[in-house]
Amino acid sequence: MMGAQRIGEAARPAAGLAVLADPMAIAEEGAERFAGAAGEAFARAGRFTVALAGGATPKLLYTLLATEPYGRHLPWQETHVFWGDERCVPPDHPESNYRMAHEALLRHLPIPSEQIHRMCGEEPDPERAAAEYEERLRTAFPGQAGAVPRFDLVLLGMGADGHTASLFPHTEAVREQQRWVVRNYVPKFQADRLTLTAPAINGAATVLFLVAGDDKAAALQAVLEGPAAPERLPAQLIRPTAGRLVWLVDRAAASRLAGKGRPLS
Ligand code: 6PG
Repeated sequence: MMGAQRIGEAARPAAGLAVLADPMAIAEEGAERFAGAAGEAFARAGRFTVALAGGATPKLLYTLLATEPYGRHLPWQETHVFWGDERCVPPDHPESNYRMAHEALLRHLPIPSEQIHRMCGEEPDPERAAAEYEERLRTAFPGQAGAVPRFDLVLLGMGADGHTASLFPHTEAVREQQRWVVRNYVPKFQADRLTLTAPAINGAATVLFLVAGDDKAAALQAVLEGPAAPERLPAQLIRPTAGRLVWLVDRAAASRLAGKGRPLS
């Protein structure tokens, strides 16, 4: 892995932080880890389940994954794609996370359409859209009652306010402990979002944060090195119960970190 300064690889595999040169280096490292997770899952279970993030940072990663060697050498036919969150807009809307991933990645790949599980942002009733998506997850991840979905990989970004997915500070979804998918009204946008909840994300085998830019530096320092304040910093809610938590950040985003960033327990 060129250009990476591995710091914070925790003594236990629960959490780690790699500081990389820039957004492209994050995408390159992210692609390697995506490929590793896909290969591991396919070998173990014959399928690979991944929840994609929205926003700008992962777009570079998606573009990379659509090119060689990833485009040809990953088990795309056995891949099931989900989303961590979605805006309440139609799938062809410029703000749609589905549209961004479709254009950057999915339209280039031989993933069977029935294995692309988008959240229905166009549904006029977001509560219904959330309930339907949860049902879809429960079908995809059958388990005993009260279990959580076991994504092989969940990709996440983080906002400058410490939000992740559509778990925004001081919003209702931050406190949800039972449901897997909820509608979340976000006052700062005066809009509804659909989002996985923290419990649904924390069941994953690997959660990979991709964070770039100096505008994220203060929030990253607060999330990784500040006191626990998950209501104000929802990214702190993300602590896989049994899986790996890995932060891929660039030097700009890491500029305020005092040290290795404490592994999140
Ligand atoms: C979304 C994302 C959101 C995103 C962060 C960071 O729907 O926008 O799920 O949580 O990951 O806002 O976005 P950037 O990567 O664009 O900074």
